[in-house]
Amino acid sequence: MSSDALSNLLQENRVFPPAAEFAAQANAQPAMYAQASADRLAFWAEQARALDWSQPFDEVLDWSQAPFARWFVGGRLNVAYNCVDRHVAAGHGDQVAIRFEGEPGDRRDITYAQLQDEVCQAANALLELGVGAGDRVAIYMPMIPEAIVAMLACARIGAPHSVVFGGFSAHALASRIDDAQATLVITADGQHRRGSAMPLKPAVDEALQTLAADGTSPVAHVLVVRRTGGSVEWTDGRDVWWHEIVERQSTAHQAEGFDSEHPLFILYTSGTTGKPKGILHTSGGYLTQASFTHRNVFDLKPDSDVYWCTADIGWVTGHSYIVYGPLSNRVTQVVYEGTPDTPTHDRWWDIVERHRVTILYTAPTAIRTFMKWGDHLPAGKDLSSLRLLGSVGEPINPEAWMWYREVIGGDRCPIVDTWWQTETGAIMISPLPGVTGTKPGSAMTALPGIGAAVVDDEGRPVANGGGGYLVLTEPWPSMLRGIWGDPQRYVDTYWSRWPQYYFAGDGAKLDDDGAIWLLGRVDDVMNVSGHRISTTEVESALVSHPKVAEAAVVGATDETTGQGIVAFVILRSGALADGEDGAPVIKELREHVAKEIGPIAKPRQVMIVAELPKTRSGKIMRRLLRDVAENRELGDATTLADPTVMNLIASGLATGTSED
Ligand code: WT7
Repeated sequence: MSSDALSNLLQENRVFPPAAEFAAQANAQPAMYAQASADRLAFWAEQARALDWSQPFDEVLDWSQAPFARWFVGGRLNVAYNCVDRHVAAGHGDQVAIRFEGEPGDRRDITYAQLQDEVCQAANALLELGVGAGDRVAIYMPMIPEAIVAMLACARIGAPHSVVFGGFSAHALASRIDDAQATLVITADGQHRRGSAMPLKPAVDEALQTLAADGTSPVAHVLVVRRTGGSVEWTDGRDVWWHEIVERQSTAHQAEGFDSEHPLFILYTSGTTGKPKGILHTSGGYLTQASFTHRNVFDLKPDSDVYWCTADIGWVTGHSYIVYGPLSNRVTQVVYEGTPDTPTHDRWWDIVERHRVTILYTAPTAIRTFMKWGDHLPAGKDLSSLRLLGSVGEPINPEAWMWYREVIGGDRCPIVDTWWQTETGAIMISPLPGVTGTKPGSAMTALPGIGAAVVDDEGRPVANGGGGYLVLTEPWPSMLRGIWGDPQRYVDTYWSRWPQYYFAGDGAKLDDDGAIWLLGRVDDVMNVSGHRISTTEVESALVSHPKVAEAAVVGATDETTGQGIVAFVILRSGALADGEDGAPVIKELREHVAKEIGPIAKPRQVMIVAELPKTRSGKIMRRLLRDVAENRELGDATTLADPTVMNLIASGLATGTSED
């Protein structure tokens, strides 16, 4: 964030106290804060008891092996049973769980009773395919109901899933399958995006081919949902159609209780190195916090609300706030497959109007895009059903917050700006609607039962008005239990800067009232449209191209996406003939990154340069590159080994930039 933006942010002084009518009906209660601070563990135990345990836990938290936690020790539960069966057993089988809307306009309502049948059938199919408790299943799917069914079927039989975002490349998919040693991949023939049917299965075929070429592929079967009906290549003996195996299964399956610490899922996220981290979440603590936060931060009323979270199940938001949190609370929710601009730019507002959506949870990048598209689009639809709005993924700037409040929320809906991470599993910092007042752009305060602080370099808490690093001061139920296959990296990444605190990697500031303002990442991680991408990941994709000698990547402030990826590249000699136009190479490099990682990682700009600014010890000075990328006057360059390189870079700018 630029320093101008920062000082604007901190001059924000509008406050919206909770409205009396909302407070009168709110799930969250002011007493929760006092109750949790009086006895944090008793508070979480009470939240855990809202779930159905097949065997009660006998200890709330075992922190004796810190930072490796065990929550609700000795308890056993089945996560899928808690999300589906218990609602049917309580007489809610006819309630619609999922109101699916495909991008082409196809619709499908699925009740809890139907969901129970489908999850049981899918669980039986997985067992027939040889998947058992503890085996890893990769899920690479579009936003269709079968993706949710697949996740719940895995949970039901205790097979940890690893969902890989459908926009990731074959290469990214292969490395994730390999790291988790998944034995089954669940996918679809294709998906509908921007009005056309896009193939998906070819990426799985390619990923498995690479793995087989490198050694042995761990994958025994590929389970394929027919979504678009496009033709697919088929490997006999390995590939199985979902409709052929799942639909003939019995709808009866006895859910077994698993240990509270049984692994529920692995989800890969970018860190500061090129290799993504497999974040591990387990069962009892994760579900407790996902469920508690969903009920209280979104004020969910299962009998009357229509909830819509616009995330994809490929991200943690989709795991915690489409699947586990909402379904455990007996939600009725909209699931939408496609993009916001298809067939027209008011598709989302059309969905809100037709389904009478009451709670909307989305990302600042989407809000800023809609601001750009114009107020007339939401104004053309009836959004009066909305009663609460949520934001997640990156800091929301006060202008976007106010627009969200006024134009989408008709000035009557509380906004919850929710800070959390793949690692935290569930929301950590957020206002409680009806309880906490809000300020445009601030996530406000840690939830009851959560310890957060802003500390300086020495790990000392800063006073109100001060800034520093965001840390979490106490273990929490849905915390990651480690990095898959790499316990040391878990300790090094999160618990070594200040051993007593979890280091989140975000900068933050406390205002004069002690409200928390998130300021973005402090490490080499970019946030593009709410998605985390590391600079090194993009750099290694670039240097894997034969024409590239060296690359440095920075995240530059971007009006719509939060940050945009800007790459500085030194080409190998001969890659570009004297006087040859750089544009085709630049295009090739951008495509190359999209192919290596996925379209979300495609650099906004690639600049061909002759040198990169380095310190005498050889460390790239990203700060200077960021100044260039954001068209700012250069900051202090005195530690550069060669002070003339910045002139070289600036002169290269005139010829080597490409944007489209
Ligand atoms: C990073 C985590 C949490 C689900 C989506 C992203 C940033 C997230 C906020 C917010 C300011 C936010 C942080 C965090 N972030 N929510 N409300 N305000 N920043 O999950 O990919 O694990 O990324 O997203 O920088 O560290 P993720």
